[in-house]
Amino acid sequence: MNYKNYPMVSRVVFGRGSFNQLGDIIAPERLNRKAPFIFLVDDVFKGNSDLTSRIPLAYDDQLLYISAEQEPKTSQVDELVESIILTHKDRPSGIIGIGGGTILDLAKAVAIMLTNEGEAKNYQGWDLVKNPAIYHVGIPTISGTGAEVSRTTILTGPERKLGINSDYTPFDQVILDPELTKDVPKDQWFYTGMDCFVHCIESLNGTYLNAFSQSYGEKALELCKEIFIEDNLSEEESADKLMMASWHGGMSIAYSQVGVAHAMSYGLGYLLGIKHGVGNCIVFEHLEDYYPEGVALYKAMRKKHNIKIPQGICADLHDDEFDIMIDVALSLEPLWENAIGKNWKQVITRNKLKALYQKM
Ligand SMILES: [Fe+2]
Repeated sequence: MNYKNYPMVSRVVFGRGSFNQLGDIIAPERLNRKAPFIFLVDDVFKGNSDLTSRIPLAYDDQLLYISAEQEPKTSQVDELVESIILTHKDRPSGIIGIGGGTILDLAKAVAIMLTNEGEAKNYQGWDLVKNPAIYHVGIPTISGTGAEVSRTTILTGPERKLGINSDYTPFDQVILDPELTKDVPKDQWFYTGMDCFVHCIESLNGTYLNAFSQSYGEKALELCKEIFIEDNLSEEESADKLMMASWHGGMSIAYSQVGVAHAMSYGLGYLLGIKHGVGNCIVFEHLEDYYPEGVALYKAMRKKHNIKIPQGICADLHDDEFDIMIDVALSLEPLWENAIGKNWKQVITRNKLKALYQKM
């Protein structure tokens, strides 16, 4: 047995208002005393001076607003890297992502691709990155994806939706300031929170489970129950706890894997552009055969918060389109092996997946 030797986020700050410390935190990392920091910021914050006025711009620092309407693409990473190289004489001092999973993943990928040759699509997979990334900071403004703590950056490429999984992917610095999540719309809060919940269920019910993953997964699940089922938390306590649930859920899958919901949600994301959080919910509605207790709990949470899940999204698809989604889902072999076991290919057939997709 060869155990994996994983890097983790090197530094983390937690606390309401900790975002104010960003300038002090990054100042010592500035290269050549003036090389720019590039801030990738979710464009929902455009015109939100409460946040933008606190972004510590200096020298040639650049602020790029990025839409999270669509999930990140390898081509988008390549374009960002090229524009940064063309705009600045110096290699940047660092990349700072301020937003949800999409922006955090973009920040990680851009930091990697500034020091690695070629196109981002060539690095989708496991341990293909050769050179360390430049300094990169993640500041989540919505909780649940675990992107702030993970060793991957999920990108949609021309051929697949797959992460750049590498030792150079994790952030050098994360700032966890739950205050930044206060304006998240309720649906989005639920979908992204459920990403965390699904991480817990898939990790805790997987064949890869071990005490490391279990300890994080159980804590995250306990927090999810407090937040989404029990009803004794103030808004602030709930936001604080969801930020830590996201962290623990992400840590739980670091040393195991996700499972059926993620594999199938990637298919929906690749073909239909369905975003990850809501995609997980759409799939999870139909996974009672795989995760009976988890699905029952999920449905109770969805009802309690009166959240609508899109239905009939596969109603008009053709056979070749189902095939594309099935191919994407089945290509994620570690997810299936975790969910089902080594013999998963005998259990999971194309017809089974098609029948599930047809219900969605
Ligand atoms: Fe996820």
